[in-house]
Amino acid sequence: MKNLYLASRNNGKIEEYKKLLSKVNCQLLLQPETLEVEEDGLTFRDNAIKKASEVSRKTNNFSIADDSGICIEALGGKPGIYSSRYAENDKKRIERVLKELHGVKNRSAFFVANICVCAPNGEVVIESEAKCYGNVILKPRGNGGFGYDPIFEESSTRLTFAEMNNVIKDSCSHRGKALKKIIPDLLQIFY
Ligand code: IMP
Repeated sequence: MKNLYLASRNNGKIEEYKKLLSKVNCQLLLQPETLEVEEDGLTFRDNAIKKASEVSRKTNNFSIADDSGICIEALGGKPGIYSSRYAENDKKRIERVLKELHGVKNRSAFFVANICVCAPNGEVVIESEAKCYGNVILKPRGNGGFGYDPIFEESSTRLTFAEMNNVIKDSCSHRGKALKKIIPDLLQIFY
């Protein structure tokens, strides 16, 4: 079985990926603790490529990375690529967004996930991007999830990401959709 390094430090993400990649015959591993990849690209794609490519070259294995975030129309697409750095923790990030949207009628927003898979030499072999549309609500709702989940109400279900179980979230989320698109390509590499 070939290794596939997930270019992330996030334990929550590896659990999400393990479920989503259950049909792919690979050993999913978190990137080595000592490896630090700076997310200084100007697009989600730049950052995903940078993360995957560095982890592949350093581990000499296949790797998969995603870069994701929430883009809010009334804020000109912010926080976007700065989603994870918009304030020092999830609670403060949510507070900042709600403050910036105070009194704003247009609450349209979408999440984006860009996923990249690199070969052991760092070359990009698979790419995918997907979005999930919804609205930023006035007050947080729901107890699950992470990040901006409690304030993002997904359009088709009218549930916040924090009110969804994993199965529902995976079926409509940006990350779930981006990953589902590349399963056939992954099966060609990991069989
Ligand atoms: P990344 O790990 O660099 O891709 O950071 C993405 C950031 O965007 C996270 O730290 C969250 O703040 C936010 N984000 C991305 N996807 C989601 C999601 O599904 N729910 C809530 N927040 C998310």
